[in-house]
Amino acid sequence: MASYTSLSLILLSITQLLSLLSPQAQAQTPLAPAPAPSGPINITGILDKAGGYGTFIRLLTETQVANQINNQANTSTEGMTVIAPTDNAFNNLPAGTLNKLTDNQQVQLVLNHVLPKYYSLTSLQTVSNPVRTQATGQEGGVFGLNFTGSQGNQVNVSCGAVETQIYNAVRPGFPLAVYQVDKVLVPQFSSATAPTAAPPAANTTSGGSNGTKTTDENPASPPNASGRMNVGLGLVGGLSLFCMGLLS
Ligand SMILES: *[C@@H]1O[C@H](CO)[C@@H](O)[C@H](O)[C@H]1NC(C)=O
Ligand SMILES: *[C@@H]1O[C@H](CO)[C@@H](O)[C@H](O)[C@H]1NC(C)=O
Ligand SMILES: *[C@@H]1O[C@H](CO)[C@@H](O)[C@H](O)[C@H]1NC(C)=O
Ligand SMILES: *[C@@H]1O[C@H](CO)[C@@H](O)[C@H](O)[C@H]1NC(C)=O
Ligand SMILES: *[C@@H]1O[C@H](CO)[C@@H](O)[C@H](O)[C@H]1NC(C)=O
Ligand SMILES: *[C@@H]1O[C@H](CO)[C@@H](O)[C@H](O)[C@H]1NC(C)=O
Ligand SMILES: *[C@@H]1O[C@H](CO)[C@@H](O)[C@H](O)[C@H]1NC(C)=O
Repeated sequence: MASYTSLSLILLSITQLLSLLSPQAQAQTPLAPAPAPSGPINITGILDKAGGYGTFIRLLTETQVANQINNQANTSTEGMTVIAPTDNAFNNLPAGTLNKLTDNQQVQLVLNHVLPKYYSLTSLQTVSNPVRTQATGQEGGVFGLNFTGSQGNQVNVSCGAVETQIYNAVRPGFPLAVYQVDKVLVPQFSSATAPTAAPPAANTTSGGSNGTKTTDENPASPPNASGRMNVGLGLVGGLSLFCMGLLS
């Protein structure tokens, strides 16, 4: 009798021990201090880890906007908010949309997803519209975003032509909020800067087409010699303006 109870006690304590040990072993990885929000912000790293943002990461990197976000998130007291379109969002754009954009427009497209201020999801529900983005005021475009609260803890974001819902915070905390969207917020580029629908079929007779291939196709204005240079300078100037905007 006595030996039975002691045996069962021993068994009990062994199972208890095991049950105590195994969750601990399992918990070891999650227990490792959650990668703190301290340390330098890395927007592409955050999106890379979340997965499914390959195109946006490529655009952020190519346009150097990633560096701007990282720097500003680190230095600004206001923080930053990034609306991150998924690869699905980019795949759902009409074919060739990105390729039709000039370099400058690609920069603006990316900046249209970057707000120079930290917004929690709840603050977006009541924010006064339109909300400034990093693209606001560029190239004469008023690229603001409108946010409207809907039922539950959900927010719609609109840039005029496109409206979509924010479901998910990839990264909720100050100084950098990152929200997932399933549509790309393509700014409404003014017709002056938009790539005109069909570049005039420049009929270069294939036999004699020698000479430098003219890449600038500015059908509206007579391309006078300084035209090309202006485009180049405009891009550089625009970029440095962005940077100045970020620094101030
Ligand atoms: C963040 O900003 C501080 C100054 O505010 C600077 O010393 C530090 O090097 C910056 N870190 C990064 C990763 O840029
Ligand atoms: C940010 O993360 C990306 C991808 O994880 C990495 O390639 C890059 O080196 C990181 N940048 C910085 C500044 O840590
Ligand atoms: C948000 O968008 C969805 C469709 O995308 C729409 O059904 C809903 O009414 C919108 N809510 C608000 C508050 O605009
Ligand atoms: C955003 O809201 C403002 C004010 O409500 C409105 O005037 C503007 O047309 C809206 N813009 C877009 C892109 O929806
Ligand atoms: C361009 O040239 C091709 C032949 O090379 C011709 O068929 C076509 O009609 C021409 N288009 C224009 C707009 O002149
Ligand atoms: C174009 O010009 C180069 C020299 O400038 C010449 O070598 C080449 O054969 C020319 N091609 C045609 C198609 O005329
Ligand atoms: C080129 O265009 C600019 C304005 O776009 C004008 O001021 C200038 O006179 C033009 N130059 C020539 C050579 O046509």
